[in-house]
Amino acid sequence: MKQHLWINGKNVETNTYSTLKSPYSGTVIAEVASAAAEDVNLAIEAAEEAASALREMPAHKRADILEKVASFLERDREDCAKIIANEAAKPIKTARGEVDRTIMTYKFASQEARRIYGETIPMDAAPGGENRIAYTMREPLGIIGAITPFNFPMNLVAHKIGPAIAAGNTVVLKPASQTPLSAYRIAQYFHEAGLPSGALNVVSGSGKTIGDLLVTDERLSMITFTGSPGVGRSLKEKAGLKKVTLELGSNSAVIVDEGTDPKKAAERIAAGAFVYGGQVCISVQRIFVHETLAESFSESFLQAAKNLVTGDPLNEETDLSALISEDDTNRALEWINSAVSRGAQLALGGNTENGILQPTVLLNVHEQEKVSCEEVFAPVVHINSFSQLEDAVNMVNTSKYGLQAGIFTQNIQHAMQAAKKLEVGGVMINDFPTFRVDHMPYGGVKESGTGREGIKYAIEEMTELKLITIKLD
Ligand code: SIN
Repeated sequence: MKQHLWINGKNVETNTYSTLKSPYSGTVIAEVASAAAEDVNLAIEAAEEAASALREMPAHKRADILEKVASFLERDREDCAKIIANEAAKPIKTARGEVDRTIMTYKFASQEARRIYGETIPMDAAPGGENRIAYTMREPLGIIGAITPFNFPMNLVAHKIGPAIAAGNTVVLKPASQTPLSAYRIAQYFHEAGLPSGALNVVSGSGKTIGDLLVTDERLSMITFTGSPGVGRSLKEKAGLKKVTLELGSNSAVIVDEGTDPKKAAERIAAGAFVYGGQVCISVQRIFVHETLAESFSESFLQAAKNLVTGDPLNEETDLSALISEDDTNRALEWINSAVSRGAQLALGGNTENGILQPTVLLNVHEQEKVSCEEVFAPVVHINSFSQLEDAVNMVNTSKYGLQAGIFTQNIQHAMQAAKKLEVGGVMINDFPTFRVDHMPYGGVKESGTGREGIKYAIEEMTELKLITIKLD
């Protein structure tokens, strides 16, 4: 299969194609276009031409298009799950879950398209403001450059295109080079749903080249990016006056307080540590357990980790498959070995089987080890114990990241203290930090990024507030 670029409502051939392989089996999936600078320019031109059609399209029509995209995903659920499973090595049952979430995301986008409200402003609250009516409205920004990661190739694309189109913007999308096919499928659905040509363009290829072209082009009004902190920082530095939303990494932590049911918490947290092999920005990476529970919790956690099935992403039983690349597997192994050589205890895993990094559990890891302080993005988690809640909260906060954190506790005072003191974008009380539904505000502080997703909140980022006043005398 040859996958061309998608520009101005058409497949567009280019000069260079690269081979896309299954991260699990290495079999060739497709030859995928690598956009050249001229292609990116064509995509931006198309988005510019379509901008007025989108800006003027009534909200109910934008909502209908988004609803239709959701219905096409429902129709083709299994096929879409297979695209994700093949290109991302995401276990098929997890991939089906992603398609279901993508459907919800477009449904939320459709609903939010109909309720982009302004507010009335009481101008007479200030002297000189008497006898005026004033209100605000939100207007689309114009062209949005969206750069998406490999780990949720459909749903994180939806979190960018959904609100952008709901708000009346046009989009140039650069999908992850490892998982472009999901994005091209979505572009087809928008076309089929009646989105004007040029309103959504997809240009796959080199992240650096295309990212630099998008971020420095003055015709674009905003960049929305999910990916690594290094790339996010560089985009922000180059963006000039463009708006920038960044969803970056994390080494998410969970606290298990005294009085918690250790088995129940362990089973839930293991799911949050190992889903999609830990390649989720809010995967549990650091677990802090009250010393009274450390033994029973670790025992249940290890049992839950041992129960996981590793293998082919297309097998129904598989929980964990290969990481997105061999380099990532080697990097994770290096970090594990380094922690162990400096005193951490390897309780499980730390090895590969058929190229798949096995669920890995470390105990008593120093906070300066990379498996602790960097984003590991692999099935690697560590358990440390604490005696005072305050110490656990401080340990969570030593991180340079701050996306989401969780605390399991039966103590309302502890829950409220943690909610107040944890330096993150979202606190999950009595759940893992991996929890997300697609309409909630989602985003981080510190090096985890800036701005919020979750359709309503992304629409705020993707629109400009305009004030209108009417003088009455
Ligand atoms: C992410 O990895 O940033 C997204 C997590 C999610 O949507 O569940």
